[in-house]
Amino acid sequence: MRITLIGFMGSGKTTVAQELSQQLALPNNDLDTLIEQAAGLTIPAYFEQFGEAHFRQLEQKVLTEALSLEGILSTGGGTPVQVSNQDLLQNQDGPVIFLDASDQTITTRLLADGVASRPLFQQLGMDGLLELKQTRQPIYEKIASEIITVDGKQPAEIAEEIIHTI
Ligand code: S3P
Repeated sequence: MRITLIGFMGSGKTTVAQELSQQLALPNNDLDTLIEQAAGLTIPAYFEQFGEAHFRQLEQKVLTEALSLEGILSTGGGTPVQVSNQDLLQNQDGPVIFLDASDQTITTRLLADGVASRPLFQQLGMDGLLELKQTRQPIYEKIASEIITVDGKQPAEIAEEIIHTI
């Protein structure tokens, strides 16, 4: 059994994945963490040293490997952007859940987290990020098997909602 979470930065993929993992007693795999382990670098350090294009190559390689793991898989916000990754995500066995958050929710959360952990926030600023979010929205909607609105909800509540839909 695998449940894959997709959505923009700050939509709560990592936290909801932890909840799902606990509630369903399934292993939790976080793509960003797997990338950091494969690279031996944090994601901001990887962007800094090698740039986004190389990051996307590594992301695709690690995604391919991660799709053979059982349990919950939380992806990075940009994972579904590459067409080849869309194919991988859509053709796998198991639901793809899009955590849909409003601009307001994303703004509040990303400002609280700060720019240090998110290189694209550092590069684009909040206005640029919200533009990026708009361009990605149709991609998330296209590849999702379920769309869950997350605004104003607690992670445990979102996890329960996901469990009811699958
Ligand atoms: C990215 C999102 C990040 C991380 C990288 C690029 C993106 O993951 O993969 O900084 O392109 O949206 P989160 O969505 O977990 O922050």
